[in-house]
Amino acid sequence: MTPIYQTSTYKQDGVGGLRQGLGTGYEYSRSANPTRSALEECLAALESAPNATNPRAFAFASGLAAEDAVLRALLRPGDHVVIPDDAYGGTFRLIARVAEPWGIQHSAAHLVDLDGVRAAVRPGSTKLIWVETPTNPLLTVADIAALAEIAHEVGALLVVDNTFATPYLQQPLALGADIVVHSTTKYAGGHSDVVGGALVVADGAIAPWMAGVGDVGAGVAERIGFHQNAMGAVAGPFDAWLVQRGLKTLAVRMERHCDNAEQVVRMLSEHPRVTRVYYPGLPEQPGHQAAARQMRRFGGMVSFQVDGGREAALSVCKRAAVFTLAESLGGVESLIEHPGLMTHASVAGSALEVPDDLIRISVGLEDAADLIQDLRQALG
Ligand SMILES: Cc1ncc(COP(=O)(O)O)c(C=O)c1O
Repeated sequence: MTPIYQTSTYKQDGVGGLRQGLGTGYEYSRSANPTRSALEECLAALESAPNATNPRAFAFASGLAAEDAVLRALLRPGDHVVIPDDAYGGTFRLIARVAEPWGIQHSAAHLVDLDGVRAAVRPGSTKLIWVETPTNPLLTVADIAALAEIAHEVGALLVVDNTFATPYLQQPLALGADIVVHSTTKYAGGHSDVVGGALVVADGAIAPWMAGVGDVGAGVAERIGFHQNAMGAVAGPFDAWLVQRGLKTLAVRMERHCDNAEQVVRMLSEHPRVTRVYYPGLPEQPGHQAAARQMRRFGGMVSFQVDGGREAALSVCKRAAVFTLAESLGGVESLIEHPGLMTHASVAGSALEVPDDLIRISVGLEDAADLIQDLRQALG
């Protein structure tokens, strides 16, 4: 097992030299730590595919710290980002309320509508197209290969948040993405016991507009690596170890999440009080065709609307017992939440606002019959 190097500094081999013999050499754990390096190697391997070899991974203290590193490493005032019109509320808050005051502009587009995305792009100033697929919380699926083409036509980079799918179900770099984002807090860690984030950068990705800005050059991995150390929001050794331990069971957990979610979706689709079910595996789900092409299976996240509006949705959340009322997702335990008042409260009043009769569930690894019975009793 990878040891937990609970170590801030390393006895060096000589003045100005690294401590060798632990792999690539270490001097101070913000710059590099062997436990974190092991996680980074593991994530890079998981996101690599035959046509996406040698990506580089970077582990951060949270998913949002990883996202922040992308924005700061690759954008300057005046640059523009296309974001999904349905995305994790925290991502929207970071771009709209933290990056915007520093001069970063954004437009929201419905990523299933490729012409709409083309229309949202501002050639010359759009530097990133930011994709979440499936999205949080409406589980819309974007066609990664098509969006990579649109981004590359205008010299922009494609960033894909792969938190919901994980590299087991989908490998964005193989489809043309330049950067993969993860909240490792979710399926990667898998046990609701760690907060973490990661970036995986395609081999040879370049941000040409950054050539000559500072002394780091235009290589995306080099810039991200520089910012990871310069900003310091790194994953600690114990957190890195927990995520790596979670990843060892990713494949079997994802299979079971998918098995259980499919059964829950079947029940919800037939339930008289459920007015709409959102799941990438449903033929009517926006982006289902893309999902069928680019995903191995359709994941463990399900959202649904109920009749009776917000009060009815809140009552289902309250009555659920096997599903625990909580934010987050991707752990072994099933969770239920009301996005409008919980995870997505920060998008209220924006183009990303979610329906107030919407419920999101993270389907865990429990017995499927227990989960179905619980939702039936909660729906009344
Ligand atoms: C899709 C997605 N991306 C990013 C994040 C942010 O990650 P973290 O909470 O680890 O900062 C989340 C958190 O819920 C998420 O759902």
